[in-house]
Amino acid sequence: MPSFPEIMHRTLFRTLSLLSPAGQGLILRRYFDWRHRVPDPWKLATDSYEQQKYRSTLKHLPARPYRRIIEVGCAEGVFTHTLATTYPDAEIIGVDVSARALARARQRVPEDGRVRFIQADILTHRPDRSFDLVFCSETLYYLGRHERLRRASAQLSALLEPDGVLVAVHPWPEATRLHHYLDSHAALSRLTEQVYQAPPRPFAVAVYGTKSV
Ligand SMILES: C[S@@+](CC[C@H](N)C(=O)[O-])C[C@H]1O[C@@H](n2cnc3c(N)ncnc32)[C@H](O)[C@@H]1O
Repeated sequence: MPSFPEIMHRTLFRTLSLLSPAGQGLILRRYFDWRHRVPDPWKLATDSYEQQKYRSTLKHLPARPYRRIIEVGCAEGVFTHTLATTYPDAEIIGVDVSARALARARQRVPEDGRVRFIQADILTHRPDRSFDLVFCSETLYYLGRHERLRRASAQLSALLEPDGVLVAVHPWPEATRLHHYLDSHAALSRLTEQVYQAPPRPFAVAVYGTKSV
């Protein structure tokens, strides 16, 4: 059963998602800039649970020489940094709605021709290229009601090139709801899903490939 803070969290973000996508994006930008008024608000760089989650996530990737990687909701670039060192030949883009988070991400992983950070909203962003590896971790629960999750899932799927891999990581069992529109997307098929009963919060790593038509 969800805790009281979780219920409040869901209610807040569901209410925001009653706005237009543009209005929702504006409030999310302000909210996450406020959350990032202190560095690393979720302790992603220092919490052993988060570090374990990153290691577990990477274990599920089909072994391939990935060339173009995008991380949606990259916050201050902690996992982006891991990606940049794990895939030293790949072009890597981190996307986040918060300018303040991205300023810190750029300090952690300096931008060069290979690594870039873009301020954008997953609900409206249309990059001019596609990717062979797409990550979205701990972000979908901010998007609110089902219509927005469906939209976000379509946006994530549209980032993939043929034969690309999409990885979604979210708390379990909420991941069943958050990943529903990825599971049912016509262009995606789920390759694996692993649930980790890790304290303090179980999580699921779901890996999707593109369907060949
Ligand atoms: C909890 S952090 C996740 C960090 C990272 N994915 C990880 O797992 O290490 C969530 C991030 O998602 C970003 N975010 C929330 N809604 C977003 C949206 N609609 N578009 C892009 N980024 C968003 C927030 O600004 C925040 O930095």
